Parts: sequence; structure tokens; C-alpha cells
Amino acid sequence: MQNFEFHNPTRIVFGQQTIGKLAGLLPESARVLILLGGGSARANGTLDEVKTALGQRHVQEFSGIEPNPSFETLMRAVEQVRRDKLDFLLAVGGGSVIDGTKFVAAAVPFEGDPWTIMETHGRNVRSALPFGSILTLPATGSEMNNGGVVTRRSIQAKLAFSSAHTFPQFSILDPTVTYTLPPRQVANGVVDAFVHVVEQYLTYPVHARVQDRFAEGLLQSLIETGPEALARPEDYDARANLMWIATLALNGLIGAGVPQDWSTHMIGHELTALHGIDHARTLAIVLPASLRVRRESKRGKLLQYAERVWHVTEGSEDERIERAIASTRAFFEDMGMGTRLADYQLGAEAIDPIVTQLEAHGMTGLGEHRDVTLATSRRILETAL
Ligand code: NZQ
Ligand code: ZN
Repeated sequence: MQNFEFHNPTRIVFGQQTIGKLAGLLPESARVLILLGGGSARANGTLDEVKTALGQRHVQEFSGIEPNPSFETLMRAVEQVRRDKLDFLLAVGGGSVIDGTKFVAAAVPFEGDPWTIMETHGRNVRSALPFGSILTLPATGSEMNNGGVVTRRSIQAKLAFSSAHTFPQFSILDPTVTYTLPPRQVANGVVDAFVHVVEQYLTYPVHARVQDRFAEGLLQSLIETGPEALARPEDYDARANLMWIATLALNGLIGAGVPQDWSTHMIGHELTALHGIDHARTLAIVLPASLRVRRESKRGKLLQYAERVWHVTEGSEDERIERAIASTRAFFEDMGMGTRLADYQLGAEAIDPIVTQLEAHGMTGLGEHRDVTLATSRRILETAL
């Protein structure tokens, strides 16, 4: 196992009717900005519950944070916080709203051009406003981690940042608020969480037994829960399981002491920046192709994955690996997701611009061995056609 430090300060409040607990989670004197997406939290009553729980506190709202939140929009929230001297941020939404809130929290006290936060991937962040979240979409794990992804529309750049200062103080996870999710977003959540686990698990063996078994447990739970959550929107247990699995998939626990990949995410971010494809769908395109192209360097873990997650024990090593990759693809497709570029009307002509973007963003040595060069990314994209 590799050396590591593990620190996660986010308090989780989980379960039905837990939004009312908000009152005890932030100071009575807080001047609060509620950050929202495009209207779902207003429409399904979550915002009303939040405002009731906040009682007499000074509260303002900022709506309109888009899926794949934009720097341009978030900077308007930064101005509102600075102008009205607000001191506590409350994200009510999915990963986009929570990520956006993290950026605003870091940008408000930042001296200089806040875009440099993204260019340095958060290394220049010295402080941030305190914030919490009310999660409405299980997927990203943003509710219990310190990362965020922000897009600058004008230059089609989608970049990730993280900082010790951008963990939520708390996150409230009430699975019933997810009942109104469209099926497409439920599927996105299942696949995003699945790939988060894979990026931290399917690398090379380092004898990290419990991390491996936690990861395998999360993957198997997703394979079981994903179809239930999709088929039965108001099945509390399915939604509750999905919510907690997605949180555990990216809160640092399974990634401690093990090598990590993240190349699927980095290539996927460019697909979203250039073509607007949902984050999870970019992962469904890239991952099966990436596993196929990189099967030699991932051989040990692919065999373990085949056996322990998909129960594939028969056949030659190559056959077992092939079946595990095919099962992964079939799972994504069962969740209603295209796994080829062609499913999104993209052909070979789409590849050059993606590789150019990867180069522009310094993504030239990705993966657990830093051996996913631009040439390898190109091969992965060609395999995904
Ligand atoms: O905008 P509203 O109206 O709120 O609607 C949203 C949005 O259209 C809707 N929605 C959310 N909760 C709902 C709901 N609709 C009905 N009922 C509800 N309860 O769902 C749509 C998608 O929301 P979004 O927040 O964009 O989805 P998601 O949670 O999948 O977040 C995706 C973003 O997170 C980033 C992605 O890159 C992408 O920008 N990621 C963040 C990570 C992190 N912070 O650790 C890791 C991930 O790998 C990912 O990169
Ligand atoms: Zn993701």
C-alpha cells in the first residue's frame, strides 16, 4: 500500500425529512446565499423546505447555475456575495451547483484573477467562505469531497480544481428529494459513480485489500441498485442506496493508499467542453475503449475485476478480460447510455480537436503510469468510434 494522509471534514446528515436539521448546522447570524440550478429545486419543493429551515436568517438566492457550471455565471454570484457582504454559501442541487458553490467560495476572498484558480487546479487557493450543501442528485460525490469542475465557455475549457479549503462543512442527503429526477439523470449518476470507483480501483495491484474490497462492494452495489433506481423512482431503499454509494465512491476513502487513473475523466471533460455531452455519457464512451487499449498495463486488476465483480472465472486470461470489458459496456447500455462516439453523432473527424484540447490543457501523460500520451488518447478515441 502507498503512503497517504486521509482527512475529510464534511459532516453528513442522511435520511428522510432531514432538511429541517439545517437550522442547527449554520450560525444563527449567518448571511446566507442559496445557490441553485435551473429550477428543479424550486419546482419540487426542496427550496421551500430549505428556506423554512433557515428561519429568520438573512437569505438571498442565486439561480441559474448550469449543468457543467460556467465561470461566467459563477462570477456573477461572486459579485453578489462581495457586494452584499454574505458570509455563508448553501448549494441546493446536483454536482454542478455544488462544484459551482465551491468555486464561488474560493473566488470571493481570492486576490487577483479567479480564473487562475482553475489554471492552477486550486493550488493558489489560500482560503474560502464556509459552505454546505443539500444534495438533489446522487452522482458526483461533490457533497463530500473538495473537488470542483468549472467550464469557461468563451474558450471551451473545462478544468478541475481541488483545495483543502473547499470541503463542504456539511451535506444533507435526503433520498426523497431525488424522486423527481428524470431517468436520464439517474442513469448519469449510476454511471458516474461506477467510473469514479473504477478510476481508483482498476489500476495495478498494491495489496490494498480493504480498499479493493470496498471498491468491489461499491461496484456490485451499483450493478444491483442502478436498474432498481431507474425502474422505480419512488423506491426509497433504491434511492437511499444509490445516494450513499455515490458519496462513498468519491469521498477519498477508497482512493487512500492506492494508485489512481482519472484519464477517462480528463478525456471525457474535453468531450463535454467541445460537444456538450453529459459528463457521465462521456465516461461511458471512453472507459470501455480505454480498458481495451490499456489492457496490458491493467492486466492484473482487470483479471481481479472480472472475477470479483462480474464472477467471470472460466476461459483464458484474455477471454476473461474481454468478458469483463463487454459486461461493463453492457451495464452502461442497460442504463440507457450510448457507449460509442457514433451514438452521439460523432465520427473520426471529432478526434483531432479533442487531442488538440488535451494538449492545450497539459493532459499529455495521464493515468496511473502517466503513460496515456496524446497518441494513446487518440487510440482510445479511435477505439470508441
Ligand atoms: O439545474 P436544475 O434545474 O437543478 O436541474 C438539474 C440539471 O438539469 C437536474 N436535477 C438535479 N437534481 C434534480 C434535478 N431534476 C429533478 N429533480 C432533482 N432532484 O439534473 C440536471 C443535471 O444536474 P448536474 O448537477 O449538472 O448533474 P451532476 O450531479 O451529474 O453534476 C455534473 C457535474 O459535476 C462534475 C461534472 O463534470 C459536471 O460538471 N463532476 C464533479 C465531480 C466532483 N466535484 O468531485 C466529479 C465528477 O467526476 C464530475 O466531473
Ligand atoms: Zn465523474
